[in-house]
Parts: sequence; C-alpha cells; structure tokens
Amino acid sequence: MAKTSVWSDNRFWQRSAAWITGFSAVLLIWLTFDTAGQISMGTDADLQNGVTKRVPGPTVINYKISYEMSTARGHEVPVIGEKEKFFGRDDWSEEEAGALLHLGKLGSQVKNCMNCHTLLGNGAYYAPDLTKAWLDPAWQNDGTMQAMTGKDTKEEAMAEFLQHPSTYPTHARMMPDLGITAEEAKGIVAFLKHMSSIDTNGFPRNFGKIKGAVHGK
Ligand code: HEC
Repeated sequence: MAKTSVWSDNRFWQRSAAWITGFSAVLLIWLTFDTAGQISMGTDADLQNGVTKRVPGPTVINYKISYEMSTARGHEVPVIGEKEKFFGRDDWSEEEAGALLHLGKLGSQVKNCMNCHTLLGNGAYYAPDLTKAWLDPAWQNDGTMQAMTGKDTKEEAMAEFLQHPSTYPTHARMMPDLGITAEEAKGIVAFLKHMSSIDTNGFPRNFGKIKGAVHGK
C-alpha cells in the first residue's frame, strides 16, 4: 500500500477537529465562569465592610464615588467614599436601591439611550459616553448644570435634565425630549450613578497593556 502523507489523511483531520472542539469547549466554559465571577454584583455587606467588588451592590448609591490613581495597579480606580445623600437619603436599603436601579435599567432600555450614547462599551457615539456621566464635572456642585437647572444637588439636576433635555442645551447637538417621568428619571440617575462605580479597568482581566498607549508601559 502506498504511503499517504499525514496531511491528506482523513483520520488525522477528524482527530484534530475533535481535539480542537473539545479544547475550545473547555476554554469557553472556564472563561464563562471566570467572567461570571468578575461581573457578579457585590452586596450591601461588602460595601459596609470595605470589600472591593468590580461591580458594587445597588446600595453604592448611598456613597460618594470618585476615582483615584492606584500606584499598585497603574491606573485610576473607582473609590467608594463616605456616605452621601441621594435624593435626600443615604439609607436606601438593598431592596429599595435594587428596585430603583432596575427601574433605571428598564428605562434606559425602553428609551433606547444606546441609540445615541454608549453604556459600558455598547452603543453609539452620537452623544457623550454615559458610563461615567455621573462623574462629569459639569454636574458637580461648582459645575454648570446645577445652576442651569436650578437644582442644588447633582442627582436632582440630572433628573431635571433627563425630563426636559431640550430646555437645557449644553452642546450644539441637543438631546431630544423622550417623555421621561420624574420617577423614571430618578431610577435612571441611580442607574448612572451605579454604573460610574463599576471598575471597568483592565477587563478582560490580565489583558496586556498596549505598548505605547497612554499610560501604557
Ligand atoms: C436621540 C439621541 C439621544 C438619545 C436617545 C438619548 N440622548 Fe442623552 N444626550 C444626547 C445628546 C446629543 C446629548 C448632549 C447634549 C447636551 O449635553 O445638551 C445628551 C446628553 C446626555 C447627558 C449629559 C451627559 C454628560 O456627560 O453630562 C445625559 C446624562 C444623558 N444624555 C442621558 C441619557 C439617557 C439616560 C438616555 C436614555 C434614557 C438618553 N440620554 C437618550 C442625545 C440622546
């Protein structure tokens, strides 16, 4: 019998296909569990005990959120600070905060914010990225938005803007009125505040820095 090269041997290709399929399946299952661990939400107890979670629990809305340079990690990371009032309260329970966030998430889907904005990397670039909109200096105490909307707090100014965006034009491009109610606006602001506290740095984990990029090594 003539000797056939391994490259034209059917059995070789069948075995290779089986091994590659098996290996990929195991890899995907492992990655799924790894990702699930990274993105699972923390709890109120985590926040009270200072346990850092990539995605903090809903009651993070009771706290001040800022970003600070971490020398250990080599980039800015979200820092959950002291208690801070959110719509007049800093004692939102896990259930209440969760319900508010849920309302905001549904609101953002129903009004399709992603059609113009980007949320956590998904969406459009017609309007500003909303992932860290809560931290936009324009909404802070000395920013322009509180004065423009006549509100004394960040969350009230944001909620007011969301209900009547075309009354408060800040860019040449205006956000249209989407018929957002006061209750929905409150939920959406909670959703935005929570989103700003998510540590989106270095995801996927251990992903190498791009050589030559800003702050890259
Ligand atoms: C049709 C496009 C469009 C849609 C849909 C839209 N927006 Fe906007 N949005 C804009 C534009 C344009 C701006 C910038 C205009 C401005 O600041 O006055 C803006 C600005 C904002 C700002 C201020 C951003 C910042 O960093 O200060 C927030 C917050 C915001 N939008 C939230 C939302 C939310 C939440 C939704 C969904 C419920 C939404 N937008 C849906 C177009 C849109």
